[in-house]
Amino acid sequence: MDIKNRTVIFIIVLIAIISFFVWRFIRPMNIYVVSEAFERPIDTSTIPAPLRTLRATECATCHSDFYDEWRTTIHSQAWTDPYFQADWKFENKQQTCKNCHIPLDRQQEHKVLGFRDKEKWDPILAPNPQFDPKLQHEGVTCAACHLREGKIVGVYGDTQAPHPVRKLDDPNQVCVRCHVVKGERWDTFFRIPPCGTVAEITATKNAHLSRQDIDLLLGAPKINTATKPDQPVPLIETPQTPESPPVDKEITGAYSEITASNIKGLGCVQCHMPLVKRPLVVGGKPRLARRHLWRGGHDPEMVKRGLEISFQAASDSAPGKRGFILTVTNVGAAHYLPTGTPDRHLTVSLRLLDKDGGVLKQEIHTLKRTIMWRPFIVDLWDTRLLRWQPRRYRLDIPEKQNGETVEAVVRYHLVAEKRLKRIGYKSEEPLAYDVFRKQIPLRIN
Ligand code: HEC
Ligand code: HEC
Ligand code: HEC
Ligand code: HEC
Ligand code: HEC
Repeated sequence: MDIKNRTVIFIIVLIAIISFFVWRFIRPMNIYVVSEAFERPIDTSTIPAPLRTLRATECATCHSDFYDEWRTTIHSQAWTDPYFQADWKFENKQQTCKNCHIPLDRQQEHKVLGFRDKEKWDPILAPNPQFDPKLQHEGVTCAACHLREGKIVGVYGDTQAPHPVRKLDDPNQVCVRCHVVKGERWDTFFRIPPCGTVAEITATKNAHLSRQDIDLLLGAPKINTATKPDQPVPLIETPQTPESPPVDKEITGAYSEITASNIKGLGCVQCHMPLVKRPLVVGGKPRLARRHLWRGGHDPEMVKRGLEISFQAASDSAPGKRGFILTVTNVGAAHYLPTGTPDRHLTVSLRLLDKDGGVLKQEIHTLKRTIMWRPFIVDLWDTRLLRWQPRRYRLDIPEKQNGETVEAVVRYHLVAEKRLKRIGYKSEEPLAYDVFRKQIPLRIN
């Protein structure tokens, strides 16, 4: 080969490499893999008699307590939520988003007949004569969790229900359909899949339910200890030993094939749907049932319940210095805290304030999952809180200074401002709130 030929080859290869990277930077980005579990909407061709529609308002005629709770939750707003709507438009109104946010076929204007591409991002659509716009506005409605193959699924299976019922082995099976999203692809290096709540639990040793959880579920005051309790105890209403699910394997890929025993150990329902004794229908006999609350990042009380936080003077300060220590521990969530979309994060601020509240010194830490999106998706680092692993932050100040107080503030953020700007969304409601704030005066008068 002469030099001229080699130069030509070199230039061609260089152009190919540059084009590849340019494409990686501008291509539309699909952050998850469309898996079989949610590639199509849920089939509702048979509505079980005596029901006429699948609307929550119809279930409400008999199950009013459940309806009243569900109506206050983000599940009921999974479609109308203005943040979702803005994000969905930004993502070119992808059809697959609907299969979790409005998962019933009747909630969607179009039927999915098949797919044009192997990745299943490009469905073949046809008009849907059964489309029900009212049902669409109910988002993750009752039937999204309760209707399978023309039957209502529930954990009892022996009630006098007028509609056909199929018994569920474990109520946590219901959550997995939408709260597990795979991320494995040749160009994707997620350590934990996007919205990896389930993988986070299986990856955290001893994250299953404990005595503390049960006290939490029963509404007892939180035990004041940040250490792992001795022995996990089985839950009252599910007499099974919560064995540790396999650990490492889960992170790398097998989380999509969670086995039934793993699902039992997840505890989603135990923490997010507290037990209550009440009739299932107006005038029915009281049973042990679960409240339909699903609180999470949108509820400051839920986030606070997951955290134990203290802020104190340090006992080991160096001469001429005063140290203050903030300790934050995830005591109430089996998954990481925060969990959910990688948008969610906590900030910890430690400040020295003057007598007018002006900031003299400040340290800010962010507890967040940081992902590089382009040119490849790579999980860079993760500073969120694993269960029962206390995190300490320290502020040291000189003994002689003009400060009046030290202050610690912990805030929860639903989403980063930067992202809101990018998708062009302005929220009416605050998207961040305090979960802890404490001041310590420096002078004792
Ligand atoms: C006409 C009244 C009525 C309507 C409408 C109705 N249900 Fe029921 N449902 C009942 C009765 C009665 C029971 C049994 C209660 C009992 O025995 O304590 C029941 C039981 C249930 C159970 C428990 C089943 C089990 O075995 O665990 C679930 C879950 C349920 N209904 C969901 C729904 C949903 C979802 C809808 C709407 C799509 C709905 N129901 C509509 C009357 C109704
Ligand atoms: C049909 C899909 C689907 C199923 C099944 C489902 N979820 Fe969800 N869930 C969603 C979607 C979508 C959202 C987010 C809605 C939004 O913010 O727009 C959500 C949000 C949540 C939240 C967050 C609340 C907040 O404040 O942000 C919790 C907690 C939750 N789900 C728990 C559960 C549990 C527990 C189960 C099982 C009993 C379950 N989900 C089953 C789709 C589902
Ligand atoms: C996000 C999923 C989800 C949605 C949405 C949902 N449910 Fe449930 N529901 C469950 C699960 C899981 C159980 C089983 C809880 C258990 O272990 O007892 C349940 C149980 C029930 C029961 C039986 C009593 C009990 O607690 O076991 C009734 C009745 C019921 N749901 C009615 C409704 C109605 C009515 C709606 C809509 C207004 C609704 N559900 C929406 C997940 C859901
Ligand atoms: C031991 C109790 C516990 C268990 C078990 C648990 N959670 Fe949570 N969960 C919490 C607490 C506390 C929060 C609030 C703090 C946070 O956001 O991490 C929360 C928050 C959430 C959120 C809100 C995230 C957001 O975007 O706002 C989702 C979604 C969620 N959990 C889903 C699940 C699912 C799915 C499971 C089962 C695979 C599960 N949780 C198991 C306690 C629990
Ligand atoms: C496999 C089911 C699934 C699919 C597919 C899905 N989502 Fe979600 N989405 C969820 C769940 C579950 C939550 C809430 C829990 C969490 O924070 O992870 C959520 C939360 C969200 C939120 C946060 C809402 C809030 O209140 O802060 C936005 C925005 C969102 N999804 C947009 C989308 C868009 C856009 C798509 C399509 C590109 C999509 N989702 C596809 C399940 C899904």
